[in-house]
Amino acid sequence: MTRARVAVLISGGGSNLQTLIDAAQHPDCAFDIVCVLSNRPDAGGLVRAAAAGIEVHGLDHKAFPDRANFERELGDHIDAARADLIVCAGFMRVLTTYFVNRYEGRIINIHPSLLPNFRGLHTHRRAIDAGVAFAGCTVHWVSAGVDEGAIIGQAIVPVFLADAPEFLAARVLIQEHRLYPVCVALVSSGRARLQNGTTFIDGKPGALAMLVDGSLAETP
Ligand code: GRF
Repeated sequence: MTRARVAVLISGGGSNLQTLIDAAQHPDCAFDIVCVLSNRPDAGGLVRAAAAGIEVHGLDHKAFPDRANFERELGDHIDAARADLIVCAGFMRVLTTYFVNRYEGRIINIHPSLLPNFRGLHTHRRAIDAGVAFAGCTVHWVSAGVDEGAIIGQAIVPVFLADAPEFLAARVLIQEHRLYPVCVALVSSGRARLQNGTTFIDGKPGALAMLVDGSLAETP
């Protein structure tokens, strides 16, 4: 089986990147990580990638005259690596419509809330303040709007009484590390596809549901 060539975009420590690097070590994994790019040259995730022998590029977005120039160089590296799929993993730059359209259907993201609730930043504080009983994370296709693309998979965690953002974030991150490799493999293998704005997994519309213990509500 030909393994999909994945480019990972990061901005920070790269714990999600690390879980993808680890997953790709398995011989039956559906993807290889062929390059890691960051808008911050000092991102810790670049060290993780380099330690795994993966091509890295730290492109300081502040060194570019505008967003379009930054994205053009980003895209040039992605294309040079012949990436089939772009995986955003803690990438904190909003991508322009130009870039999203250039890679539509081939670019995904993980967001630390149960979309469509709590798009944007400070998701854990907002979830606690909203008094919800469940929080979690969402893997979705990247579209022009922020955190608006069709959902590929979600994983839930309970919100405890008198919870705190840092504790909720830690619980959600555990689920992120479980959910993302599964979703990247589904997209890499072609089992998950975006068709007319809807996710199809093995030809059926819908998204993957991961429960608190990391099990799947149904096995796709
Ligand atoms: C994760 O919480 C992810 O949901 C959000 O940014 C964080 C990245 O963490 N987009 P890491 O860099 O993968 O550790």
